[in-house]
Amino acid sequence: MQFQRASSLKGEIRVPGDKSISHRAIMFAALAKGRTEVTNFLQGDDCLATIGCFRQLGIAIDNTPEKITIHGQGLDALRVPAGVQTVLDAKNSGTLLRLIAGILAGKPLALTLTGDASIQKRPMKRIIDPLTMMGADITSIPGNGCAPLYIKGMPLHGIHYVSPIASAQVKSSILLAGLFAEGETSITEPYVSRNHSEIMLRFFGANVTTGQTTATIQPRPLLLGQTVEVPGDISSAAYFIAAGLITPNSEILIRNVGINPTRDGMLRAAKQMGANITLLNISETNGEKTADILVRSSTLHGTIIEGALIPALIDELPVIAVMAAYASGQTIIRDAAELKVKESDRIAVIVEHLSAMGADITATDDGMVINGGRPLHGALIDSKSDHRVAMSFAIAALNADGVTTVKGAEWANVSYPAFYGHLQSLQR
Ligand code: S3P
Repeated sequence: MQFQRASSLKGEIRVPGDKSISHRAIMFAALAKGRTEVTNFLQGDDCLATIGCFRQLGIAIDNTPEKITIHGQGLDALRVPAGVQTVLDAKNSGTLLRLIAGILAGKPLALTLTGDASIQKRPMKRIIDPLTMMGADITSIPGNGCAPLYIKGMPLHGIHYVSPIASAQVKSSILLAGLFAEGETSITEPYVSRNHSEIMLRFFGANVTTGQTTATIQPRPLLLGQTVEVPGDISSAAYFIAAGLITPNSEILIRNVGINPTRDGMLRAAKQMGANITLLNISETNGEKTADILVRSSTLHGTIIEGALIPALIDELPVIAVMAAYASGQTIIRDAAELKVKESDRIAVIVEHLSAMGADITATDDGMVINGGRPLHGALIDSKSDHRVAMSFAIAALNADGVTTVKGAEWANVSYPAFYGHLQSLQR
């Protein structure tokens, strides 16, 4: 797909439902008694894979354009057919694979969890270790700490786990296993990662407490079906925030975006860079804060992005790097080694592609240094099967000379199937 300079972006969009929250709505509803209805669910490949896996586990789920209805049967409901080896396919989704492993670790079932080529390269030892400490029988079939994983449910006991990384997938996997463990389970992380599991588990009736960087869950709650409205995904809004900022004569209103403080790092980083962003209609649904985000073209300058801010904008760093390339002065991104184990090695891929477009950017062990302000030009970009790389470089093209061709642009379907249509609709 090809992209070129835009003279102005103007208008209003609604980004799709939050990916993290959409996954969790299906999973927690499957463990709750009674019907759950979910509106503004993200109909992207990752979340559709979650629906597919829970259907395979015996949960009836109706998917219509207006809403998803999950017919939950309580904590003990999940089943697999007898006499066949069940294989659950998480496709490209780390969230699905890691969270479902936590749910299945204490269930009287044996099955295989797998996914696509990218997921089979991503580290799973980070969940295998703590789940094993809880009593789980879970192995990496190739023996390299990666999927496919074989899981045989075992009686679990609660632990207190001190995680070396701030990861909501690790935290959620452990908390979900804690639903089925004997005694209390808790996890402490170096910085707080996104807290959607804690918020939504509580909303369904679980006893989850949080303090500073620790989350604690009590076992065997009565979870009851709920009505869940998924806020728009700030990680999807991020592309249009960046687009509005770097394209001259632009004003974009993005409606109903989740601005949970564990996810709003992009807004904080953009403000640090001098962005003109206004939050309107601040509200809350199901414990998740939302707002309309008004973005206007801005003169950006470099900044330092590090420490506790990193988990709150980890998925936005590819497009923040694009903003930094257009900003004046130096931007340093550090403490972000996690970027290497996302859907692609995002440090290597961003540095390679922004360099190809003419940016002055250097990879470091845990991030990158960008000396912004050089004019960029079009280039051939390979998305490397990574949705966020594909969308970030469609945005990078908006202020570059010439044509940028993104190979594998369709990977946007993982989290934002309507992305290119929305981008087109804003061009004036
Ligand atoms: C997610 C957590 C983050 C994030 C991912 C979604 C989640 O991953 O990058 O896109 O829904 O819990 P980590 O837990 O690996 O940091």
